[in-house]
Amino acid sequence: MDFYDKDLVSIRDLDRDHIEALLDLSEEMIPYAKGEKVDRMLDGKVLGNLFFEPSTRTKLSFESAAYRLGCDVIDVSEMSMTSISKGETLADTIRMVDAYCDAIVLRHPHEGAARLAAKFSINPVINAGDGAGSHPTQTLLDLFTMRKAKGSLDGLNVVLVGDLKYGRTVHSLADALTMFGAKLTLVAPETLQMPDDIYAGLKDKGCNIRKESDLNNVIDQADVLYVTRIQKERFPDPAEYQKVAGSYRIDNVILREAKSDMIVMHPLPRVNEIAYEVDSTPHAMYFEQAFNGVPVRMAILRAIMKEDD
Ligand code: CP
Repeated sequence: MDFYDKDLVSIRDLDRDHIEALLDLSEEMIPYAKGEKVDRMLDGKVLGNLFFEPSTRTKLSFESAAYRLGCDVIDVSEMSMTSISKGETLADTIRMVDAYCDAIVLRHPHEGAARLAAKFSINPVINAGDGAGSHPTQTLLDLFTMRKAKGSLDGLNVVLVGDLKYGRTVHSLADALTMFGAKLTLVAPETLQMPDDIYAGLKDKGCNIRKESDLNNVIDQADVLYVTRIQKERFPDPAEYQKVAGSYRIDNVILREAKSDMIVMHPLPRVNEIAYEVDSTPHAMYFEQAFNGVPVRMAILRAIMKEDD
């Protein structure tokens, strides 16, 4: 796989073979992620977890992944608790943290922050979400979840619904699914559709992609329904958020039209996009998806922090 000591800033840092190898390694990690087996293969290593935006799943699953492999973790959860609050730049902060650990995981509100961090860090930087940019480790766990549920990633019919403008997970995911020949349908209010540059880039790579405003027109064809939260915190004007809040809601009525084996995914947190009644249907895959963050991030840490024997 040869991913030792490499940054993971964008899903484009990986090709299809890299992704398949990481997903295979993630599968092997499941008993270790569940604590059924123990292997301290990263004993003596230190991970720096910098989360300058709120996170439950990404931060804690990286920590769990590290501890399960014997790797220690140093972490910061708020910018206000670092010397950035005294005026230190992100570049200097990264230089310092780099000196204290063997790899850095960074979540940051600004698009491009992880790329900048990778420039200033000698050790590898893993992008844990940069503003409305991308979220490549989420994409890997999304692909892992799809492959597990559907048997293969090739040629899946995936409907992406919700906030496709600010939702960073769908930007990385659409890129990755294009490598596997997926058919993508983008369902969003006009103002929250996929940014034109990303859409054009996907088309250029030969992606079979189209936009649609009414979920009812496409739900019966979906193998995967990938739902996202409308990212309230990224709207410059709260009035604009109010115009689109609650645009889509998945419930058992709309799911009547879905294939029996169609899976509903969501990177979480959800607000109102998926009714609680969906949780007990066979379609609901989002909690298993969130658990998959542990084995997938174990595989990522193993690949980046340990040289192959
Ligand atoms: N999916 C995801 O990134 O969740 P968190 O914001 O809780 O990390």
